[in-house]
Amino acid sequence: MEEKSDNPRLGVVSTNITWYEGKVSAADRKRVLRQEAATIWLTGLSGSGKSTIAFELEKQLICLGHAAYALDGDNVRHGLNRDLGFTPKDRTENIRRIAEVARLFNEAGVFVITAFISPYRADREMARTIIGVERFIETHIAAELDICEKRDPKGLYKKARAGQMSDFTGISAPYEAPTNPNLRLNTGTMTVAETLDEILRHLTPRFRER
Ligand code: ADX
Repeated sequence: MEEKSDNPRLGVVSTNITWYEGKVSAADRKRVLRQEAATIWLTGLSGSGKSTIAFELEKQLICLGHAAYALDGDNVRHGLNRDLGFTPKDRTENIRRIAEVARLFNEAGVFVITAFISPYRADREMARTIIGVERFIETHIAAELDICEKRDPKGLYKKARAGQMSDFTGISAPYEAPTNPNLRLNTGTMTVAETLDEILRHLTPRFRER
């Protein structure tokens, strides 16, 4: 049996559960952490540079004194999402869970950087809804397929071309590029440092004086 939650953001939930409001406000958390949290949602093909950028950005934010945490596709699929594969349905569930985790981190006041292919536009829209428009920064890591395939850091394009892997994004499964992302970073022409500078510039209004 399912019914609507008291909290309209959450949609359908199990029966007999009630939303319990905490005693710490978002403003309290902002004051303590001196930042306005957001999720930098990186989307792009395998090999486009999402994980590299995510972990560099996490390091830089921490070095600058900000609370930040990177969530990466391969890592999360070792734990929380270890039961999910790469069918459209599983990818949707992958993104839904990540978005819920990102929302929790953001509510705790922490910046989140997500590195997931997240190939479907509809799934990224779902993530935007879960996380909140104000906090969702869609960032297209826009390297061309041939560049990603040349890099092939995990040897997966080779496997996919050889028919040893099905449903591989860019080869035998679709990638729907964002039409109007908050940021588009071409890692075919930009260095990692340049992409970080651009993201940090975008985040600066969210940093508070300390
Ligand atoms: S997503 O499509 O559901 O967003 P996610 O980012 O979590 O994908 O995982 C992508 C990573 O899983 C890739 O970087 C790659 O290492 C690995 N992978 C394994 N199988 C596939 C596949 N069929 N398509 C894409 N990536 C795959």
